Order: sequence, then structure tokens, then C-alpha cells
Amino acid sequence: MKVLLTGGLGYIGSHTAVELIENGFEIDVMDNLYNSSEDVVEKLKQITGKQVKFHKIDLLDMDSMDKMFSEGKYDAVIHFAGLKAVGESTQKPLMYYENNITGTINLLKCMEKYNVNNIIFSSSACVYSDKNVAPFTEDAILNPINPYGRTKYFIEEIIKDYCFANKNFKAVILRYFNPIGAHESGLIGENPNGIPNNLMPYITRVAFGKLKELSVFGNDYDTPDGTGVRDYIHVVDLARGHLAALNKINSFEGYKIYNLGTGHGYSVLDVVNTFNKVCGNKVKYKIVDRRPGDAACVFASPEKALNELGFKTTKELEEMCLSSYNFEKNNK
Ligand code: NAD
Ligand code: UFG
Repeated sequence: MKVLLTGGLGYIGSHTAVELIENGFEIDVMDNLYNSSEDVVEKLKQITGKQVKFHKIDLLDMDSMDKMFSEGKYDAVIHFAGLKAVGESTQKPLMYYENNITGTINLLKCMEKYNVNNIIFSSSACVYSDKNVAPFTEDAILNPINPYGRTKYFIEEIIKDYCFANKNFKAVILRYFNPIGAHESGLIGENPNGIPNNLMPYITRVAFGKLKELSVFGNDYDTPDGTGVRDYIHVVDLARGHLAALNKINSFEGYKIYNLGTGHGYSVLDVVNTFNKVCGNKVKYKIVDRRPGDAACVFASPEKALNELGFKTTKELEEMCLSSYNFEKNNK
């Protein structure tokens, strides 16, 4: 099976590329390098021993997209490419809608033209309403509260409509919870530009003295220690979820939606304390006000992915923290 990975040099795409290559899939990777680096192509070769074919193409550049599809003969696409910074999306909503939604429509048009009928799409837990009570099942109420989250919600709807119109077309929509961690080689991982918004990259930068201390956003939530609770999933487990989805795609019609999470919630202080335990007390923190828009407690019901995809996570919080630390150490 030949698979195109859009956004395949990014954090989740690169880890999925490794899993696919190691499981015998032929892959091409496309990315516009907006939030990634071409060095990752070499890193993938170092990890897998295989040279990956890379197309530096923007989803919005229809001529280049068309050319890639005309030559590629793909059986499936895993669609990671997109902008993902929640805060930036509230400042630049049109950029987010154009990149993520128009980009996806361009991709679907190419898939239609070249008769590529299988897609796996990177959606997010942020499509759920924070009024749901965890664990969140796939049929929980949807109500994204920022433009980034709405792009994910709208794309899910577009994919569903297209599946209805084209009976040959099949989609697996994966709603990721909070991916952290890095490949055991320490060669690929999450490396955001500027000051990180997300918890783990902030922690690893504090650990190496690049940032002074972590601000914990609120300790007055209705959670066991008062800090926010999330479902952290190791990125290598998450990558394996895409493999499970690809293996499933020939066995149903239309679309399927799955959460990819562990089913366990950890608080901000659980993460900081675990990180300090396995990586040597490097992270100081202070409690500050809540961050606007944050929910108290979000974690997945992983049952549907387990029952239908046979997907189960294998890696614990300690391993997530240690691998994140090792990646940051390698990239100092
Ligand atoms: P990432 O930014 O590391 O990877 C996305 C890649 O897409 C980047 O390499 C970027 O350069 C590329 N890209 C963006 N716009 C493009 C365009 N127009 N044309 C071509 N390439 C483009 O992000 P990630 O963490 O690997 O996330 C992958 C996907 O998963 C995204 O769609 C994201 O919204 C979704 N997601 C991520 C998280 C998370 O916490 N990391 C959670 C839920 C969902
Ligand atoms: N947090 C801090 N300090 C920080 C950063 C985060 O205390 O410096 C806290 C947050 O308040 C939250 C937890 O750590 O309680 C996790 O925050 P992240 O920013 O790492 O993750 P979010 O759950 O807010 O959101 C992430 C992605 C979204 C995605 C969602 C899926 O940013 O794009 O996970 O669940 F949709």
C-alpha cells in the first residue's frame, strides 16, 4: 500500500512515517515546512534505513498538488498538514480557515481526480464541548471554542459530506487527545518555534534552562489537586493508531470516528512531578491564574478504538517524560 503523508515532517507525521516504514508501507511525504524542517527527512533515514521521498509543496498550491498526485499513484492519504496554534488562530482566523479548510478541499479534489479513496484525518479532542463529563466518548457533544478547533470540526463535516456523495470514498477521523513524548532515538520530537504554548515543550525548556520556570495555569479547578487534567498519549502510541486505522479502512463503508487517548487523566502537577522524578528535579513552577478557555478535565474513552481497531496504548507517563527530555537534550 502506498500512502501519502501531508504534513509528514511535523511532530506526529514524522513519528507515523517511522511506524509505517517499519511496517512495510511505501510512503511519500509532503510538507510546506511552515512548522518543520527538511532535516527530518535525514532523521527518518537514520532511524529506518530508508530514504523517504519528500515533496516540498503547499496544500494551497493546486498545480504542484496535481502534479504530485498525477505521479504518486497513492492508495491512501494521512492528512496531518495544518496550522495548530490555538492562540494564533484567534488572532488570525482567516489564515487558519484558508490553510486548514481550503487546503483540505484542495486535497480532496486531487484525491477525487486521481481516484484515491482512503483518507485518515488528524482531528482533535478540541472539537468536543467542555460541558461533557470525562471520559469523552465519540458521540459526546461537539462545540469547539476557538477558530482552530472549528477548522477541525468543519473539516470533519466536509469529509462526512464527501463520503456521502462518493460511495467509494472512506475516511477515518482520529480525534487526538494530548500527544507528548518523542521517538526513543531522540532524533525526532516536538520542537515548536518561539515560546511553547503546550505543557510538555515548556517543561523541557525549563529543564534545560532555556526558560526560567513553568507557570501552572490555575490550581482551583474541580480536580484532585486543583490543576487541569488531560489525557497525555505518547506520540509513538499515537502513530501506531494510524497504522491500526489504515489496516481497518478496507473493512467498512463511509466514515468512522475514533478517539486516540489512553483513557487516563493526569493533572499538570502529576506531569511536573513525574518529569522531575525521572529527569532529576529540574523543573521549578509557580501557580498563576487560569488560562482563558481551558477546561478542567478532559480525557478520552478509548473503548471504541480498542473494540474496533484493536488499538491500545502501551507507554506510561514516565516514558513520555523521559523521551521528551532526551529529545530536548539532543536538540539543545
Ligand atoms: P506540526 O505543526 O508539527 O505538523 C503539521 C505539519 O503540517 C507541519 O510540518 C507544517 O509545516 C505542515 N503544514 C501546515 N500547513 C501546511 C500546508 N498548507 N501545506 C503543507 N504543509 C503544511 O503539528 P502536529 O502536532 O504534528 O499535528 C499534526 C496534525 O494533528 C495537525 O493537523 C494538528 O492540528 C493535529 N493535532 C495535533 C495535536 C497536538 O497536540 N500536537 C492535537 C490534536 C490534533
Ligand atoms: N498548562 C500549564 N502551563 C503551561 C501550558 C499548559 O499549566 O505553560 C496546562 C494547561 O492549563 C492544561 C494542560 O497544561 O491544563 C495542558 O495544556 P496544553 O496547552 O499542553 O494542551 P491543551 O489541552 O490545552 O490543548 C492541546 C492542544 C490542542 C488540542 C488539545 C487536544 O494544544 O490543539 O490538546 O486535547 F486540541
